Amino acid sequence: MKIPTVPSLLATALAAASLVDAQYADPGECTGDCWAHDPGFQVRQSDGRYFRFSTGGGIHIHSSDSLTGPWEAAGEVLPGGSEVQHEGNDNLWAPDLHYDSEADTYYLYYSVSTLGSRDSVIGIASSSTLETGSWTDHGGLFRSEADGNFNAIDANFATIGGQPILTFGSYWNGIHQVPLSGPLDLASGAQARNIAYNSTGNHAIEAGYVIYRRGWYYLFFSSGRAGEYTANPPAPGEEYRIVVCRSSEGRGGFVDREGRSCLTENGGTTVLASHGNVYGPGGQGLFEDRTRGWVLYYHYANPTIGLETSDYQFGWNALQWSDGWPSV
Ligand SMILES: *[C@@H]1O[C@H](CO)[C@@H](O)[C@H](O)[C@H]1NC(C)=O
Repeated sequence: MKIPTVPSLLATALAAASLVDAQYADPGECTGDCWAHDPGFQVRQSDGRYFRFSTGGGIHIHSSDSLTGPWEAAGEVLPGGSEVQHEGNDNLWAPDLHYDSEADTYYLYYSVSTLGSRDSVIGIASSSTLETGSWTDHGGLFRSEADGNFNAIDANFATIGGQPILTFGSYWNGIHQVPLSGPLDLASGAQARNIAYNSTGNHAIEAGYVIYRRGWYYLFFSSGRAGEYTANPPAPGEEYRIVVCRSSEGRGGFVDREGRSCLTENGGTTVLASHGNVYGPGGQGLFEDRTRGWVLYYHYANPTIGLETSDYQFGWNALQWSDGWPSV
């Protein structure tokens, strides 16, 4: 299969960012197997069972009848790798889940890449049950090139103004969006549009995730370094943290709480950063829980357990909202 590439509408940026200090709630309860890394999440329609998907030499499935556990390991998505002919096709990353009610089907976007490369592909698998063994691979959706200004990893599906949109990107020119015609195809003439960028340091923002709430689209992303916390410890504050921006139209115009552009002014309001035994929270997503409202889920390192990706823990917090901004 030939995987299309998309051109980019480039934007540049300057100015400084600031870190809002806050007192954060500890993660909600998790019992059983609580390992998570760049988690994807989906509640099953048929029975309300919770499914969590993690990156680690393939995409691992954990499931539980309750958000708090006990969580059980439940196999892998595409254990044989992806049909995408690209380096990294046996080591899929960064699952994002989307339920299509018309087709009664779950779609999982995955990344095929290698660390530090922007020659990457976003691919898709589908399932009707979310269970291991039920996944069908649909191969690559689109690709970014080694000399381009974005990286086609860390996909997130959202419907924005009635249009299916994939938000994606990591480092380089930051976070982008591309329109789809449906879960499996790019819209015709689709172009990648830059929606968030950090012009400073090594442009370390990634893992965008978009939700809609009461007239606003919220873009959550991870800022800072995701790992190598023992091999190459980051300076305090340079480890992963979770940041938010919002926009009324969702395809651009994202600003932080202080009104700074998240594209041209390095904006981004911190929602969750290291505190207590929570180090480097990130790789986040959100879902609207039956009883808890909007829940932010993420991975973090607990220094009393370990700082390797294989030690990362599943964290979640029900969000509080005031003046239209979320906090933990
Ligand atoms: C942008 O990058 C700089 C340097 O790495 C960092 O200090 C700052 O917090 C970042 N801002 C955002 C919003 O990610």
